[in-house]
Amino acid sequence: MRYRTLTDGTTTFDVSALVLGTMNLGVTTDEETSFAILDRYVEAGGTFLDTANNYGQWGDSNGRLSEQLLGRWLASRGLRDELRLATKVGAAKKDPRLPLSPTPPTNYEGLAAGTIQASAHESLRTLGVEHLDVLYGHVDDLETPLAETVGAFCKLQADGVVGLTGISNVALWRVVEARAEARRQGVPPYALVQQQSSYLYPVPDVERHNWASPELYDYARSVADDDGAGLAVVAYSPLLQGAFVRDDKPLWEGYDHPTSRARLATLHDVARDLGATPNQVALAWLLGGPAPALPIVGASSVAQLDEALGAAELVLDEDVRGRLDAV
Ligand SMILES: NC(=O)c1ccc[n+]([C@@H]2O[C@H](COP(=O)([O-])OP(=O)(O)OC[C@H]3O[C@@H](n4cnc5c(N)ncnc54)[C@H](OP(=O)(O)O)[C@@H]3O)[C@@H](O)[C@H]2O)c1
Repeated sequence: MRYRTLTDGTTTFDVSALVLGTMNLGVTTDEETSFAILDRYVEAGGTFLDTANNYGQWGDSNGRLSEQLLGRWLASRGLRDELRLATKVGAAKKDPRLPLSPTPPTNYEGLAAGTIQASAHESLRTLGVEHLDVLYGHVDDLETPLAETVGAFCKLQADGVVGLTGISNVALWRVVEARAEARRQGVPPYALVQQQSSYLYPVPDVERHNWASPELYDYARSVADDDGAGLAVVAYSPLLQGAFVRDDKPLWEGYDHPTSRARLATLHDVARDLGATPNQVALAWLLGGPAPALPIVGASSVAQLDEALGAAELVLDEDVRGRLDAV
């Protein structure tokens, strides 16, 4: 396993570079399999778990299924202090009677101060823990003043219930503004930004704010150099949910274009030459980039997780990265 240091200049800790996503654990993956996946991750040196307060809420459930399962697993294993827990607020249902939608009207709870405070404490209760190592805003909220959102995250840090803060599904300019706002308030800035990121690029679209652009990676690299408050890029859906290797998982809308098909062919060629799998090469590509990402892998079986864990040991040399980046 590889490890990374996360810091906002005030709070600093290490995490495993491969994050385990728990979006489906306790939701579509049964409890026994979920526990086996979590146990295997820890056995392999994994320390960073990612959840949210709305996993399962896309269906009919209360949206706390993943947090509830993690709470039961943590209680049964007694491992709280050896792990780093990240959860998210802001994309649970505002009105429980209405569905969630990624397009307006979204019905997201948003990132007003009262919501952040209440939702974070509900996550603490659900997970059965006294503090959250990372709390993200799940989706940016343009309706709430940025100063209010930044101040609310900081209050949780000052109260000792949150370590580092982050934001997800956000435009780069908003990350820059939020960090500047934190500096104005004299409080720690977001230390993590969680975006979709993989070896494939989506077609350009000014409306797409959920993707880690090369410019975001460049920004993350630049702030790491010039002040103590780093910015880690955390990459969700790094395997595009199986689309690199499975016919039953078509490429998402916006990703199915000629360059993707050429990149996938190269990914498979490189994997064959290295004796690795395409998924492992894709994860190693993210882990070892000029601004390294922390991929959050999802798995619905221990075998899938084992394959992903193999990527933690795979280092791509310059020639191989050159082949992968040339397309
Ligand atoms: N911030 C956000 O808005 C956001 C959004 C999405 C996800 N996330 C986070 O990111 C985590 C990971 O997301 P994700 O599940 O979309 O990531 P992913 O790693 O791209 O996809 C995981 C899925 O890929 C398939 N898969 C994994 N390994 C495989 C293998 N070796 N061979 C074939 N198929 C394989 C499995 O699908 P099957 O289960 O169908 O077999 C698995 O459930 C989530 O758990 C969550 O924590 C965050």
